Formats: sequence, C-alpha cells, structure tokens
Amino acid sequence: MEVTLSNSTFHDKPCCDDLSNTNRITKKEQLAPQVKLIEVCAPEIAKKAKPGQFVILRIDEQGERIPLTLVKWSKAKETITLIFQEVGVSTKKLGALKVKDKILNIAGPLGNPSDIKNYSTATIVSGGVGTAAAYPIAKALKEAGNKIIAIVGARNAEMLILENEMRQVADELYISTDDGSKGHKGFVSEVLKTILQKGVLPNIIYAIGPPLMMKATAEVTKPYGIKTIVSLNPIMIDGMGMCGACRVTVGDRTKFACVDGPEFDASIVDFDEIVKRLRGYSWEERCAIKFHEGGIGAW
Ligand SMILES: Cc1cc2nc3c(=O)[nH]c(=O)nc-3n(C[C@H](O)[C@H](O)[C@H](O)COP(=O)(O)OP(=O)(O)OC[C@H]3O[C@@H](n4cnc5c(N)ncnc54)[C@H](O)[C@@H]3O)c2cc1C
Ligand code: FES
Repeated sequence: MEVTLSNSTFHDKPCCDDLSNTNRITKKEQLAPQVKLIEVCAPEIAKKAKPGQFVILRIDEQGERIPLTLVKWSKAKETITLIFQEVGVSTKKLGALKVKDKILNIAGPLGNPSDIKNYSTATIVSGGVGTAAAYPIAKALKEAGNKIIAIVGARNAEMLILENEMRQVADELYISTDDGSKGHKGFVSEVLKTILQKGVLPNIIYAIGPPLMMKATAEVTKPYGIKTIVSLNPIMIDGMGMCGACRVTVGDRTKFACVDGPEFDASIVDFDEIVKRLRGYSWEERCAIKFHEGGIGAW
C-alpha cells in the first residue's frame, strides 16, 4: 500500500524512520468549510493514544497552546490524526500549514481515556466538530461488543463530518441538521428524545459537541437516569493540572478538565459556567483575528 502526500508518494512505512520527520504533517484534507483534517508524524503519541484523549500543540514560537482531540492513530505508521475547525488565530494558522510543514511541539496523549467496555447498547450523540472526538469512542465501544446508536448533527449538510466513518461503526445512524438540509430538521437532542420516548434505552450515552448541545442532551437523559458522559472543552493552557484555566464545576466540586476529565457525568456539570468562561476572552480573540488578518494597520 502507498500513501500519497501532496506532490510526492511515500511507501506505507513508519513516517519517522527519519527522526526529523517528528511533528511533520503527512496528510491534509478539507472535510467541510473551515474544518480540516491533518495527519501528523508523532510516534511516541501514536504508541500510547487511547480514545477520549487529546494533545496540546503549539504551532510556532509565538503560538498559544491549543488542545485538540486524538481522532485516529497508527502505531505502524507512527501518525496521529487531528480534525479541527478554524475558529480563531491558532486554528487558522494550523489550517494554513501544508503537507511536510512541521508543528513546533505536540504534548500528549493528555487526559483520561474513555471507559471502554461492553455496556450492551451505547448511544453516541455528537454535534459539529464534536463528531471528531465522538468517532474514536464509538469505534472502540463497537469493538468492545456494544450495539451503537449514533446521532450525528451539524448546522447544515455541508458541515457534517465523518458521516461515513460513523456509519461503519454504528448499528443505527441518525442525521440531524439545524436547517433540515439533511436528516432531521433541528437538534440532535430532539432525535435522542424521540428515540428514548420509543422505549429504546441504552445503558450509556456519550454526548460530545458545543456546551449548549451537551447541556440540552443532559436535560433529555436526566429523567431516564441513563448514565450520560460529556467531554468538556474549556479553555486549557498547560493541560497538566497546574494553571487552573480549565476549571469546571461538577456537582459541588471544582475539577480540572485536563487531568480530572475531559469526560464527566453530564447530570452534574455546570454548563452555564463553561459557556461563560469560554466567552471570557472574546474581545481579545476578536482583536487577535483582526491583527492576524489585517496586520498592525487593522488597529
Ligand atoms: C480537550 C479539548 C479537546 C478539543 N478538541 C478539539 C478538536 O478535536 N477539534 C476542534 O476543532 N476543537 C477542539 N477543541 C477546541 C479548540 O481547542 C479551540 O477551538 C481552539 O483552542 C481555539 O483556538 P483559536 O486560537 O483558533 O481560537 P480563539 O480565538 O482562541 O477562540 C475561538 C473560540 O474557541 C474557544 N477557545 C479558545 N481557546 C480554547 C481552548 N484552549 N479550549 C477550548 N476552547 C477554546 C473560545 O471560547 C472561542 O469561542 C478542544 C478543546 C478541548 C479543551
Ligand atoms: S489546562 Fe491548566 S489546569 Fe487544566
């Protein structure tokens, strides 16, 4: 088998035969508007990665640290795959890198792996780029013998990602778009509500996506008492439990999403606090984008 890398073709051998390839991008694809996939040579991370974990990377010397979920990894090829939405300066800078470019540094795998076992039936609800984080969990749960019911949502048909991959691991797949351009018109939480009302009750539900989508899903599952897990995405800096940036309230306790999570019991997460804290730097983020796109003259 051969792997094609932009203008050149490499045999499917470990990408890091040459150590200088570590952190080099080996493949790049556009999955949806502003959503990109990159495969990166990262042998040490590929060896240890597990579903539910993430990396924190820094693109260049001036770059901030950004967390991204591990979507796929291959010990044989020594690569990891990341999928990201370009929402601000760092993700736009990452999206501008080309095959063969290098990312300055990548720390990981970070966070606790998902608790993968046979629950019998598992429902995976994902929204937007959250499907990237949901896919490896759905795949691992399928391999552990679970029946998988997947509900995949996005703003519109164009923004749906990994539909084919989810179809391959799901016994039942439901699609939902906010504008109705594909599948159910509305939110993934509504699809879940209909399924639960029909008496199809899984033993575990994973909900991964924007905080408000996870909050709505948690509200749907609460009356049924079904164990519901969310993967939280607060702002992170060190990813090692030292800076406190990722603090979230779960039950009546403060937790650090990077070392205590990122997965938590959805029924006791304070989602409103997460939304508020995520918006805490929106002025600085807007300034950074202006500066990035317009240079110093944009001020
Ligand atoms: C554990 C974890 C895993 C993640 N996995 C993915 C993933 O697989 N794919 C993906 O597209 N995104 C993922 N994210 C979110 C991603 O890290 C942010 O979108 C990214 O850091 C934004 O950086 P920026 O400079 O491009 O945008 P900014 O201009 O900094 O911010 C734009 C928006 O992103 C939010 N944001 C900013 N920094 C972070 C941060 N460090 N963590 C979370 N949100 C942030 C802000 O609230 C703002 O709304 C993950 C976040 C966490 C915590
Ligand atoms: S990111 Fe610093 S404590 Fe979690």
